[in-house]
Amino acid sequence: RFRDHGGPVVPIELPGKVNAWMVTSYDSVSEVLLNDGTLFSKSPLNFPALHDGTIPPDWPIRQLIQGDHLLTKDGADHRRLRGLINRAFTPARVASMEPRIQELTDGLLDRLAGEGEPVDLVRHFSEPLPIAVICELFGVPEEERYQIREWTNTMLFHTATPEEAAAAGGQMLAYLGAFVERKRAEPGDDLTSGLIQAQEDDGDRLSDNEMLWILWLVLIAGHETTVHLIANTVVALCADPAQIPAADDRDAWAAVVEEALRSRNSVLNVLFRYPLQDVQICGTKIRAGEPISVALHGAGTDPARYGAGAERFDASREPDAHVGFGRGPHFCLGAPLARLEMRIALSSLFGRYPGLRPAIDADAITYTPSLITEGPMELPVVL
Ligand code: HEM
Repeated sequence: RFRDHGGPVVPIELPGKVNAWMVTSYDSVSEVLLNDGTLFSKSPLNFPALHDGTIPPDWPIRQLIQGDHLLTKDGADHRRLRGLINRAFTPARVASMEPRIQELTDGLLDRLAGEGEPVDLVRHFSEPLPIAVICELFGVPEEERYQIREWTNTMLFHTATPEEAAAAGGQMLAYLGAFVERKRAEPGDDLTSGLIQAQEDDGDRLSDNEMLWILWLVLIAGHETTVHLIANTVVALCADPAQIPAADDRDAWAAVVEEALRSRNSVLNVLFRYPLQDVQICGTKIRAGEPISVALHGAGTDPARYGAGAERFDASREPDAHVGFGRGPHFCLGAPLARLEMRIALSSLFGRYPGLRPAIDADAITYTPSLITEGPMELPVVL
């Protein structure tokens, strides 16, 4: 609605009556995302209202946009950090997870049938799978995983109070501090241990603070997004079962995943870019320091790019660049893992239960109370 009625650049207001903007079309979103940080910065240092007292100190989003991690850095600082993480988070490491992701998926699918029907697919499948995958990758013990899920929800949902959101973020960082110390004392075959090990290397290395914030970001971004995208895709496929591919048709499942990222993305908006000078986007003037929120969902369903019916889920569409994982320097670090996980989860789910359908009407589904991520809170299904 913002895009269709407001246009490609829409004014929004933040607490303290701070002027801000949302870019909503494929072109305006791409223009902002593709910049290398020289015109649109990700650093909160370039958002004056955050520091001069205009925005209240208890604004919950403050925590999300002020952490010391990849999503708050530009240019050489950002490239340095990404390079250090990539030394441990290699494509080979991700590819080697395939058998284990399949095993985790199969285990959850085995248990689904025992839950009695209708069974909540979010609680018993789309939520536990991504949590298990990212936590195993980083060595978080099983009994500590669900807490990460709860802290994440509290930080992202606008139903939490500012105090609750701030407390959740603080508790998660404190937990991670103790977790890293444990890993230092007893390393394992996981990425946290790999990153700690790399701190011993000669040359540039991660500081202890950078290590904490990397874990914070990756544990949140690495599950929240995938939880919701699995469920959103199940809803889309069940609305048009003719689009459900054969379980072993890898290419068709890969196409389903790309179409979901385009048209049913779990990431509605990515947070702010701050113009370093006054700029014009699609004819609208934006002043330096006024934050811009980037509406990926608006871009993904823009009829100017995808034609009439852009909102329709259609996995047979000609493949086209989408912005589901962002674009430019901050393009999703976890995209290969997310694609692998999505394909295994969906093909295995429908392979095992080809007749699976939601037990409630699509318009009865309750979605996450968030402007950042979107997916069903619960999805009762009959198998
Ligand atoms: C960045 C989407 C899965 C880690 C991003 C961005 C998007 C995105 C849109 C860009 C943010 C921006 O430009 O401000 C998604 C979606 C996923 C997914 C839709 C799943 C379906 C994952 C996974 C990981 C991950 C599994 C785990 C490692 C990250 C990180 C960044 C990021 C660390 C920051 C990259 C940077 O700033 O350089 N993701 N993501 N994501 N994602 Fe993902």
